[in-house]
Amino acid sequence: MKSNKNIVLIGMMGSGKSSIGKILSKKINLTFVDIDREIEEFEDLKISEIFKKYGENYFRKIEEKICLKFLRLENSIISLGGGSFINASIRKMCERNSLSFWLNWKNETIIKRIYKSKKRPLVMKLTKIQINCLIKERSKFYSLSNHRIDCDKLDKVEIINKILDIYENK
Ligand code: S3P
Repeated sequence: MKSNKNIVLIGMMGSGKSSIGKILSKKINLTFVDIDREIEEFEDLKISEIFKKYGENYFRKIEEKICLKFLRLENSIISLGGGSFINASIRKMCERNSLSFWLNWKNETIIKRIYKSKKRPLVMKLTKIQINCLIKERSKFYSLSNHRIDCDKLDKVEIINKILDIYENK
């Protein structure tokens, strides 16, 4: 029987959740939801502006609200923000009707992509050592996801096919 479960993509900033999610959604014709974009639309502000204007705690509250809303959907591909899966309520909601996939990369790959990124308020002022610590901390939570995809040796198509293979054969 065909599943109505969502595919939820989790992982660090720069792990490709949004780009993989978009391609995946076109390939299997499911709705794509990018939580960061939904937060921006809800607040009518860019993520960096929300952090600047209201601070991280406020952002996390809105993030929880938006995630819990969209995780109620069925048959959707949902790309979470890098910090969403740290929240226990969001993780719990993911267990309800979703299969979660951690897009895991070597720390160096992630650091190369996000170091000094102006679009990413959380890491903008962090040193490489601090980003390493953040990845280590976060990975404890990411490892609670249903599936870990080690992405470093794969191209985009291979990552997508791995996810689909698991999703369609579970
Ligand atoms: C964050 C990741 C960002 C965004 C916000 C906070 C985080 O999303 O939600 O800047 O805490 O890791 P992406 O992972 O999509 O960049």
